[in-house]
Amino acid sequence: MTLRAVVKGIGHYLPDRVVPNAEFEASIETSDEWIRTRTGIERRHFVAEGQTTADIGARAARAALADAGLEIGDIDAIIVATSTPDLTFPSAATMMQAELGMRHGFAFDVQAVCAGFIFALTNANGLILSGQAKRVLVIGAETFSRLMDWNDRTTSVLFGDGAGALVLAAEEGENGILAADLNSDGSFRDLLYVDGGTSTGTIGHLRMQGKEVFRHAVEKLAKTAHTALDKAGLTAEDVDWIVPHQANLRIISATAQKMGLPMDKVVVTVQDHGNTSAASIPLALSVGKARGQIKPGDVVVTEAIGGGLAWGSVVIRW
Ligand code: UT7
Repeated sequence: MTLRAVVKGIGHYLPDRVVPNAEFEASIETSDEWIRTRTGIERRHFVAEGQTTADIGARAARAALADAGLEIGDIDAIIVATSTPDLTFPSAATMMQAELGMRHGFAFDVQAVCAGFIFALTNANGLILSGQAKRVLVIGAETFSRLMDWNDRTTSVLFGDGAGALVLAAEEGENGILAADLNSDGSFRDLLYVDGGTSTGTIGHLRMQGKEVFRHAVEKLAKTAHTALDKAGLTAEDVDWIVPHQANLRIISATAQKMGLPMDKVVVTVQDHGNTSAASIPLALSVGKARGQIKPGDVVVTEAIGGGLAWGSVVIRW
């Protein structure tokens, strides 16, 4: 028997406010038709004024704990993937730790933008396999609506807010995280970044060379998924579900096609959530499970790419 980090529960939270594509037509030169056909996005959720990343992350965490039948006292560590922490520091993770009433263990953030949840899951797996923690709460939570330049039609229509969380626990057996593949190349920093931070004294806005990011995504995502599958000793034929980062339906389908997998093996939520960065994979996993798509024993491949560029893939037997 092999010790593995096994998924014990999953949950998500989406803010109440739903913004359909048509709402952008009043303020920028765009159309519901353009957004749908170029991205697959139909609507997204935005946080209310005063609602924070820590709030929505903690809500997703509570849902995941309830799904696992566990309480916060059972958790040893919290890892949060986010690029939209409420403050520069403390970390979003320690804020959620406080919000959840956890006074023991440890919590920290991972920042790999849209690939953040892949990096966080891999870190959690490492903590479990090295004996540092037995149960880890892994949260992806984002409020990208706070980073938008509302005059920029090439980015403002793409992103949404939301949070997803997953509980991993050490268990002997066949299920759990089977393999991961992580990559980054900082020479691509200008393709996708926020033009603010401590160097400017401003929060800044998201800037993206969409076409270039698209090209890298199509080239790199199938490759990283294949590498992770290879490390797990599996092939595309063994895959029950691809759960991709939800940025653009055209990237999602091109990646599935490159992997030789039909779209009925892909969990797609981009139409309802837009791009929620590090929250997109746990949101899609949670929705995929709720829809009855992902079932115990299924081989699930997650893959994502984002600012950095940073990209990677994790293979899980659910
Ligand atoms: O999560 C991190 C990873 N991010 C991504 O994966 C995003 C990757 N990139 C993409 O998803 C796509 O490149 C976009 C959705 C951002 C853009 O789609 P595209 O098919 O690459 O369009 P484009 O940038 O080539 O633009 C085509 C045209 C341009 O007009 P011209 O120059 O041909 O006259 C744009 O100005 O569409 C125009 N355009 C828009 N028109 C209506 C750009 N944004 C909009 C808009 N509404 N919102």
